Formats: sequence, structure tokens, C-alpha cells
Amino acid sequence: MVHLLAGMKKFIYRKIRRVVGSRLLRRPIIDAFHLLWYHPRETWSKNTFLGYPIQQCPLDMHLYQELVYRVKPSFIIQTGVASGGSLLYFASLLDLIGAAPEAIVAGIDIE
Ligand SMILES: C[S@@+](CC[C@H](N)C(=O)[O-])C[C@H]1O[C@@H](n2cnc3c(N)ncnc32)[C@H](O)[C@@H]1O
Repeated sequence: MVHLLAGMKKFIYRKIRRVVGSRLLRRPIIDAFHLLWYHPRETWSKNTFLGYPIQQCPLDMHLYQELVYRVKPSFIIQTGVASGGSLLYFASLLDLIGAAPEAIVAGIDIE
């Protein structure tokens, strides 16, 4: 029974991979992801960083840490602060990469 389930799982994964890998479906899948992730209210109200509200796509946050690690900036300017979660995020990254004590994160917001 376990072998049968494992075989079915493999079969289904192979089918899904084939559909998802198709060039024809790439754009609609990306658009569907955007629609499902970006538009619901919960996406923006539930995300936190170390307990602080943050309105960032987690995939973008991964790319930010790669950039910060590579560039090792001495300052980061955040345009659009909202609750400040991303300020904490960027400040934490600067700490983690051992940035100089003078390194800063500055934020501005229209509101
Ligand atoms: C998506 S939220 C920012 C989220 C925040 N960076 C975070 O990660 O939690 C967008 C913010 O940008 C601000 N904003 C919009 N237009 C702006 C502008 N022209 N200049 C500065 N801030 C702006 C809004 O007031 C809002 O707080």
C-alpha cells in the first residue's frame, strides 16, 4: 500500500512538473501567483519580521539579502516605511554582514 501511494505521488509530481514547466503556461502561472499572493488583504496584514509588521514579498526579501551581502552598502534608504518592519529587516542584515557601526538605514514615508 505504501509503495502504491509513493508511486502515485511520483506520477502526480511528474505530471505537475510537466504542466508547470511548459513555456505556454509560465506567464499564466506567474500571473495567477501574483493574483493569489499580492491581492488578498491577509498577505499584507499578516506578514511579520521578528514580530514587526512588514509589507514585503518574502521572495523579494530573499533577493534583498543577496544584494546586501554582495554590495555591502554603508547606507540603505527605504522609501515607504509603513510600520517599519523593513527598516528592522535591513538594519538586521547590516548587523549580520558585520557592517561598520556608522552604517545606517534611513526611511522616509509620505504619510
Ligand atoms: C507597501 S508599504 C511599505 C512597506 C514597508 N516598506 C514594509 O516593508 O513594511 C508602502 C508605503 O509607501 C508609502 N509611500 C507611498 N508613496 C510614497 C511616496 N511617494 N514617497 C514616500 N513614501 C510613499 C506609503 O505611505 C506606505 O507606507
